[in-house]
Amino acid sequence: MEIRSPETQKEFKDYYHLRWKILRQPWQQPEGSEQDNEEDTSYHIIAVENNRIAGVARLQVFDKEQLQLRYMAVDNVFQGTGVGRKIMQHAESHARQQGYKAIILNARENALGFYLRLGYQQQEKTCLLFDSIQHYKMHKTL
Ligand SMILES: CC(C)(COP(=O)(O)OP(=O)(O)OC[C@H]1O[C@@H](n2cnc3c(N)ncnc32)[C@H](O)[C@@H]1OP(=O)(O)O)[C@@H](O)C(=O)NCCC(=O)NCCS
Repeated sequence: MEIRSPETQKEFKDYYHLRWKILRQPWQQPEGSEQDNEEDTSYHIIAVENNRIAGVARLQVFDKEQLQLRYMAVDNVFQGTGVGRKIMQHAESHARQQGYKAIILNARENALGFYLRLGYQQQEKTCLLFDSIQHYKMHKTL
């Protein structure tokens, strides 16, 4: 499995599609709702297996010392097979190389155990997305 940034137009299309399928479609959100106005300035990550995108995530600048990880999603058939861990390892190594000291993120309640397993510390409750998905702020010093 290869972990890198999307390169072609098709890879970007598949990247956004997977983000939508896992993080927006189950809550009846339209295609396009998975993107925001920070796409152009963010670092995008895909996990590729046999030309198929198995997982995605995005890093954006939070402040001078911290990057924020957003839109972490692994396709259903690949969940539980180590794809998420590989993406997080890539994100952390990218952040270190760029001189950042920490990664922060807002974790969905269902994913708390995943981030805890990878050494993130749970902090305060943050947003309630779509009136149903509680998020918690998490932090890892690199
Ligand atoms: C949460 C998610 C990103 C995890 O990715 P994944 O590829 O399934 O996770 P991995 O297989 O790399 O798991 C790494 C470790 O975390 C554990 N883990 C994974 N998901 C977990 C969860 N939801 N709760 C508790 N532990 C979890 C695994 O058991 C594994 O533990 P190990 O060290 O004992 O092997 C993925 O399941 C997903 O996309 N879920 C739906 C979307 C979502 O909630 N995204 C997060 C938004 S904040």
